[in-house]
Amino acid sequence: MDTIRTLGRSGIEVSALGFGCWAIGGEWQDADGLPLGWGKVDDEESVRAVRHALDLGITFFDTADTYGAGHSERVLGRALGKRRADVVLATKWGIVFDERTRTLTDRDDSPAHLRRALTASLRRLDTDHVDLYQFHIGDADPEHATLLRDTCEDLVREGLIRAYAWSTDDPARAAVFAEGPHCTAVQHALNLLQDAPDMLRLCEERDLASINRSPLAMGLLAGKRRAHQPLESGDIRSRPPAWLQGFGDGSGADPEWLDRVEAVRSILTSEGRTLAQGALAWLWARSPATVPIPGFRSVAQAEENAGAMAKGALTGEQLSEIEQLLGR
Ligand SMILES: NC(=O)c1ccc[n+]([C@@H]2O[C@H](COP(=O)([O-])OP(=O)(O)OC[C@H]3O[C@@H](n4cnc5c(N)ncnc54)[C@H](OP(=O)(O)O)[C@@H]3O)[C@@H](O)[C@H]2O)c1
Repeated sequence: MDTIRTLGRSGIEVSALGFGCWAIGGEWQDADGLPLGWGKVDDEESVRAVRHALDLGITFFDTADTYGAGHSERVLGRALGKRRADVVLATKWGIVFDERTRTLTDRDDSPAHLRRALTASLRRLDTDHVDLYQFHIGDADPEHATLLRDTCEDLVREGLIRAYAWSTDDPARAAVFAEGPHCTAVQHALNLLQDAPDMLRLCEERDLASINRSPLAMGLLAGKRRAHQPLESGDIRSRPPAWLQGFGDGSGADPEWLDRVEAVRSILTSEGRTLAQGALAWLWARSPATVPIPGFRSVAQAEENAGAMAKGALTGEQLSEIEQLLGR
């Protein structure tokens, strides 16, 4: 497998695996005090993990202004330092937060907020442009979103962003952004437990990259979670919002989801892959448009995930076997 993929119609080249920087933002919360981060993190370990990923050939990093209420962008900017020019940097706007209290306060889909948010992200990331700017409100009004698409086109002309995307699981919304010439991707949920055939069809038809969030099903496909194993109180998986699947009512991993992982374990771990590497290999086999962006919080996870690239994609035959085993 080629370890480089093109980010849709933009022609921008990225490593076939990107790194998702939500967890390294550390703890933050919603207005009711519910956790929105992945628990405590060690910033120095996060910096080491990002730099190790660079050494292993990772050139694509995805974050959002809101992860850790600005903290993820700061840590990523610091970790990249002078190597910023070597990478393709993606971040997101649309959610409003208080940096001091690390609390989500609102959402804002106005063009004025888009420009304000970009200025703040550039400062935190310590850069003069964002390579891929993504709209973070997945269920926003698609008609109104045309205004945001036009503003993004202006920002491309001004040299502040190179391309843009909508982070949404809805193909109809993604298609609205796709009308803009510099829209080049959709970020959406995709992993072998949660397929998204309609979105992949749209990506292939419209030459958009399919940037895969939650490629490890928020850790379930990495194999270390046992049924009902308790999670740290600051971890979003301990009090899952309605959209977060696979962690039941918060008492730990859902046994039914873990059974499905067990059903396909031997295929995923063939050819010397770890389970997480097999889950990433499934995504590359699923479509030539995919670019998975697994989260990480340690050098060890960075190394294991980056190591998946050398082992390549699963075969078409393995894909069919997995479909059969999962009864799809
Ligand atoms: N709306 C949006 O736009 C949106 C939403 C969600 C995510 N995203 C993006 O997508 C990225 C990835 O998705 P995600 O964070 O939801 O979940 P994910 O990538 O499916 O799972 C990441 C988690 O799995 C565990 N893990 C990762 N590598 C591992 C390994 N090699 N061995 C064992 N455990 C491992 C880590 O958690 P533990 O160590 O704690 O188990 C890690 O935080 C995010 O970082 C973010 O950039 C975007």
